[in-house]
Amino acid sequence: MKFSFLTVTRGWKTFYRFQQRGVLSADQRLWSSALKCSRSSSQLCKEKCFYITTPIFYVNAAPHLGHLYSAVIADCLHRWKLLQGFESRFATGTDEHGLKIQQAADAAGKDPLTFCTEVSQRFETLFSSCSVSFTDYIRTTEQRHRWAVEHFWSVLWHKGLIYKGSYEGWYSTQDESFLMPSQVSDALDPSGKEVKVSLESGHKVEWMKEENYMFRLSSFRSLLLDWLVKNPGAVQPERFHQAVLQWLQEDLPDLSVSRQRSRLQWGIPVPGDPEQTIYVWLDALVNYLTVVGYPEKHERWWHVAHHVIGKDILKFHAIYWPAFLLGVGLPLPQVIHVHSHWTVGGRKMSKSLGNVVDPFEHSQMFTNDGMRYFLLRQGVPDTDCDYTHDKVLKLLNAELADSLGGLLNRCTAPALNPAQVYPVFCSHSFPRDRRGRAVEEDYHMVETVRSLSTVVEKHYESMQVYKALEAISACVRQTNGFIQRHTPWKLDRRDSKDVRWLDTIIHLTLECLRVYGTLLQPVVPEISDRLLTRLGVQSQERSWKDLDFLGRYFGTDCSFEGRPLGSNCGLLFSRLETQSGDKQKTMKSKKPAQ
Ligand code: MSP
Repeated sequence: MKFSFLTVTRGWKTFYRFQQRGVLSADQRLWSSALKCSRSSSQLCKEKCFYITTPIFYVNAAPHLGHLYSAVIADCLHRWKLLQGFESRFATGTDEHGLKIQQAADAAGKDPLTFCTEVSQRFETLFSSCSVSFTDYIRTTEQRHRWAVEHFWSVLWHKGLIYKGSYEGWYSTQDESFLMPSQVSDALDPSGKEVKVSLESGHKVEWMKEENYMFRLSSFRSLLLDWLVKNPGAVQPERFHQAVLQWLQEDLPDLSVSRQRSRLQWGIPVPGDPEQTIYVWLDALVNYLTVVGYPEKHERWWHVAHHVIGKDILKFHAIYWPAFLLGVGLPLPQVIHVHSHWTVGGRKMSKSLGNVVDPFEHSQMFTNDGMRYFLLRQGVPDTDCDYTHDKVLKLLNAELADSLGGLLNRCTAPALNPAQVYPVFCSHSFPRDRRGRAVEEDYHMVETVRSLSTVVEKHYESMQVYKALEAISACVRQTNGFIQRHTPWKLDRRDSKDVRWLDTIIHLTLECLRVYGTLLQPVVPEISDRLLTRLGVQSQERSWKDLDFLGRYFGTDCSFEGRPLGSNCGLLFSRLETQSGDKQKTMKSKKPAQ
């Protein structure tokens, strides 16, 4: 798309018209057009669809554990929606423009595009190897993205929401962010020189004075407040929602949305003004629209957009992005899911501290699913979490190897299950009137596992995956307790009553495992696959609607009863060695099921 000088002049006229009409009435028009837009598009998509994104990753450095965490959370939500029968689209990719990328490429002695391509491929390889099942991978250096950004810019321009002005203030190149004086403090750099740094990120800031294009962010303050108040779930968890509301109580100045070309060449030129480059955050945020075909065919997916982001980029997603979208008249994202950060030794990961965790190395050490399980089981969106090798090891050995693996091992081992089948449930042994061999705790377990899917649904839905995993893990422990309590290996196989009771114990345990395996699919896809395959559950029997726990007890059929078990693919999860080289003391599952 080409823009002539005439287009630019026309844009100016529009802007003056906009000003003459007054900001309030313009606000109202914008608001009602955005609302109209979201109403008509929600009528557009009657079927169940879902669109989830990760932030796009800066390519100035190699991927680290924090990046993998953002991607794994989004992947988990995507897989969860698929499990529920949604059509889901999942986008990730790389953010390749801007000064810091330009500087990183220079430092590496490479031309920027070659440099970006190399690092972008490392992100793509990492995600593919960790089962991050994205459906779209976007790079901001792609032509389709450039068109989308140019179009987006031109809509803002024609609506009079961008004007030429001058910006004077602090800028952090590391964060690609403009800062108010109150967000800056004094510090000393490693050589002892006095510098100014961002209070939030600690990154160095510089004073910048430039002629550039400004976006009328200030006129969106009341609209943004209105959106957040009317949509209390728009930014989750709640504390981040409150943080955005708090920011909006303060001054919201207009935003500089371009840099002089002489200072920044690596970016998309402003349409109609090649002397200016579009601000990297405006460029980057539009990626979410590019993926779904903006400007021609984005409606179907756009109104079901969910963003996963880290807490450091909240302002860009919950203030700038909604303001831009209101400006162009597009619906706002449904939910912005915010997560906190991983620290190492209590400190932010950084190259200079030498505490960056390499996700390639660690997912090899702990397996891909092991890494995913740890990040999602220990990562609490509300607060930062500290990463230690020891914690990973202990958690995975306890919950995946011993508890879950041990349970599967127990009821599929030939010693206890010589026929290698999903045995028959006997309702005399485990009757609803509680007059059989089952005891009170067993009934309690059945009720807990029956309601597990509802609990898990609630937590997956709100991205509190650690709570879902906590609930599943508690149930696995209860099921191990059930087996332990009834010591089925002591039952007499010559006694038909004992045999019926033994079969019932195994049937019930396998049913529990089927539920756990199904519910764990979004988190540990490979382990779940091994588990369900071993139980003989076919791939088309693994969705949310197939859960139907313990039909034989609750009065329906059980299509698994009497079926042969699936093939034995070995240990569900092998115990990990401690750093001293010893295997930790095992519970009951030293050997794979034979
Ligand atoms: N390029 C921007 C995003 C643009 S989206 C339109 C960016 N990139 S980033 O590579 O710096 O960060 C990408 C994601 O990684 C962010 O969600 C960020 O919060 C996350 N993490 C970076 N360090 C992290 C930790 N130490 N822990 C957890 N996540 C962290 O920002």
